[in-house]
Amino acid sequence: MKKIALLAIPAAFALAFTTTAMAADGKAVYTDNCAKCHGEDGKGATKMGTKLGARDYTDATVQASITDDQAFKSIKEGMKKDDKTLMKPSELSDEDIKASVAYLRTFKK
Ligand code: HEC
Repeated sequence: MKKIALLAIPAAFALAFTTTAMAADGKAVYTDNCAKCHGEDGKGATKMGTKLGARDYTDATVQASITDDQAFKSIKEGMKKDDKTLMKPSELSDEDIKASVAYLRTFKK
């Protein structure tokens, strides 16, 4: 009996992980990986965001200036301005990057 319970626990964890990996949760990905610069509200008014010059993503003009493809590329490959690294190349999966961009789009007012 005890043995069965011990086996059931890792199985439950494995299942939970697969489910998360399959349906990328844009908000969670964003909160964990992007909010420290771009802000929980997308305004980029964080310490890091202000220092690096993150734009205000609640602004429709800012949103309109970037295509999804460009956003994806900038996140995946990183973004530089002169010698300054604005965003490091991301280690997220393609799905997670797309989900976080989709979430970033929801800030548009
Ligand atoms: C170390 C701080 C930092 C982190 C972490 C970060 N960004 Fe950025 N990001 C910036 C800065 C600075 C810019 C350049 C100014 C701007 O466009 O806001 C930028 C630019 C962008 C752009 C515009 C790209 C372009 O080509 O113009 C998008 C979209 C973006 N970030 C989304 C994200 C997403 C989504 C995440 C999380 C997966 C993320 N960023 C993580 C700092 C960061």
